[in-house]
Amino acid sequence: MSSTITWRESFPPKPAFTEKDIPDQYGRVFIITGGSSGCGYEVAKAVFNLNGHVYIAGRSAEKAQAAIGKIKAEPAASHPTVRSGKGKIDFLQLDLNDLASIRASAATFLSRESRLDVIWHNAGIGGAPQGSTTTQGFETHLGVNALGPFLFQHFLTPLCVETAARSDAPRNGTRVIWVTSSGHRGAPGPDGVNWDDINMHSVGGLKGGMLKYGQSKAMNVMYAHEFARRFGSQGLVSLSLHPGSVKSEFQRNQPKLFRAITSPLLYDQHFGGLTELFAGFNQEVDTSTVYAGGNNGRYIEPWGRWGVESQAVVDGLQKRGTGERLWELSASLVKYYI
Ligand SMILES: NC(=O)c1ccc[n+]([C@@H]2O[C@H](COP(=O)([O-])OP(=O)(O)OC[C@H]3O[C@@H](n4cnc5c(N)ncnc54)[C@H](OP(=O)(O)O)[C@@H]3O)[C@@H](O)[C@H]2O)c1
Repeated sequence: MSSTITWRESFPPKPAFTEKDIPDQYGRVFIITGGSSGCGYEVAKAVFNLNGHVYIAGRSAEKAQAAIGKIKAEPAASHPTVRSGKGKIDFLQLDLNDLASIRASAATFLSRESRLDVIWHNAGIGGAPQGSTTTQGFETHLGVNALGPFLFQHFLTPLCVETAARSDAPRNGTRVIWVTSSGHRGAPGPDGVNWDDINMHSVGGLKGGMLKYGQSKAMNVMYAHEFARRFGSQGLVSLSLHPGSVKSEFQRNQPKLFRAITSPLLYDQHFGGLTELFAGFNQEVDTSTVYAGGNNGRYIEPWGRWGVESQAVVDGLQKRGTGERLWELSASLVKYYI
């Protein structure tokens, strides 16, 4: 197993890209999954204050409404040109733990909106207990971090394509963002996916946890590449990112002692939000893929810089066609819920 984090990812320089670099978003529509806390909360707050219409997609209406209330009450970050006040923010019910519920979540969104400019597949979990499964019996990290977002995106892609074709859509502005982790570097070899036993139910302990989380996050990296390859020609940009090591509710499943030791090394969640905002709004990307010399499909590191994915995952994508293989496998695993 390789190191799960690089020096560059652990100690990033000050952010070069902030809310101030993003123009007014009035008229555009966004989804941030898991926007009730952590990095997602920061994204929701920024987009709302930039006058976008943002949906916080999550499993708890109560928690989302509390976050929405807080976002509306907090002051906006200062901005040289944007005057806040026209933003909208709503809750969308979404439980990634239950594939059978995802179609209805997407249908609710599609019944309300006629465009989707940027979606951040940000919701995720780490440290799920050994043996835990989703409603459909998939290993929890696999189900919540990878298969759930894959299925949710399946229902939304046609609207993303339509949005990119609109005359009022900013060029290269319609984006699908897959929030991964530096932990993807700890995924099983050689490709990042344990093809023969994708649930890895029998692998326990700390190592098992890292392999399962790592695999789910390697899948996010691979989805970003494969999505760019499939939909770049239809105007969509797809990127993955490691938000940074930030203090959020993400640490809730970690043992107390581990949390006490690592806590001083964590950054404020606002920085993780900036990484995600860079992915959603930077002007350095077009729709041509890395294989054609572009940035579409690439990986972003904290706090908004182009990074380099695990070499094993890249080799799999480039030499062994693992992007397509994972796509087909994921599609077959979720097909009963389409
Ligand atoms: N924090 C870090 O250091 C770090 C490092 C690397 C990568 N990441 C990644 O960054 C992303 C955001 O994490 P964060 O740090 O902001 O943690 P967070 O505060 O725990 O946020 C994660 C969000 O995901 C939601 N979520 C979890 N399970 C869900 C489900 N079944 N259906 C729908 N929503 C669900 C949570 O909602 P509930 O409250 O309902 O559970 C929560 O709002 C995650 O994908 C994580 O893997 C974080």
